[in-house]
Amino acid sequence: EVAQVLAGKKLLITAGPTREELDPVRYITNHSSGKMGYALAEMAMAAGAQVTLVSGPVNISAPKGVELVRVGSALDMHQAVLSRAQSQDIFVAAAAVADYRPASRVDQKIKKTGDNDDMVIELVRNPDILADVAALANKPFCVGFAAETRDLEHYARGKLKRKKLDMICANLVSIPGQGFNVDTNALDVFWKDGGKSLSLASKQQLAVLLVELIAERMAVARQ
Ligand code: C5P
Repeated sequence: EVAQVLAGKKLLITAGPTREELDPVRYITNHSSGKMGYALAEMAMAAGAQVTLVSGPVNISAPKGVELVRVGSALDMHQAVLSRAQSQDIFVAAAAVADYRPASRVDQKIKKTGDNDDMVIELVRNPDILADVAALANKPFCVGFAAETRDLEHYARGKLKRKKLDMICANLVSIPGQGFNVDTNALDVFWKDGGKSLSLASKQQLAVLLVELIAERMAVARQ
């Protein structure tokens, strides 16, 4: 049944962290490993989808058969996604996109100065890739992620509504063994008039269940 819904469908997915450069040797990033997104890419492909994976810098290799687009910064990821999103059936935003980037990137290494013990880095807001895709006239079925430390359902439903998503996968990152940089996760998935809890499991196992859920909700949405 999953295969029936996903066969031949085009699925675009982001994964991993972004890297926001300050100068030629320094950058701001986060602990995202890319594991959840890469597992989803693999399982969606196994279900017959045509998968494009837009990935920030990670240490894992792309599943065979997936089209890999490597990016660095949030702005690069935004460009790579928005230039492809219109022709997609499904968009999954699993990347941990940096919310801010340095206001400017300088061409030469920033030097310590003898008389200056403090330094201030000015940051500016990055565009919201997922919200921009979900705002497209001809938008794909949009799935987001929400990592929270409290009030999981409240914040996740807020994002679902505000970003105009079809589905959001939320996890509590304050609990050990869930979320960033580990092999396991637990997800509470929400959509407009329902939801489902997926209990602690490997990211591979969760990816199988999540791909099934996406197919199920897409089938319902089309009716
Ligand atoms: O608002 P928040 O950052 O918590 O939303 C998380 C979701 O939005 C994730 O699916 C993430 O991939 C996506 N996102 C994005 N672009 C951003 C920030 C978040 O696509 N600049």
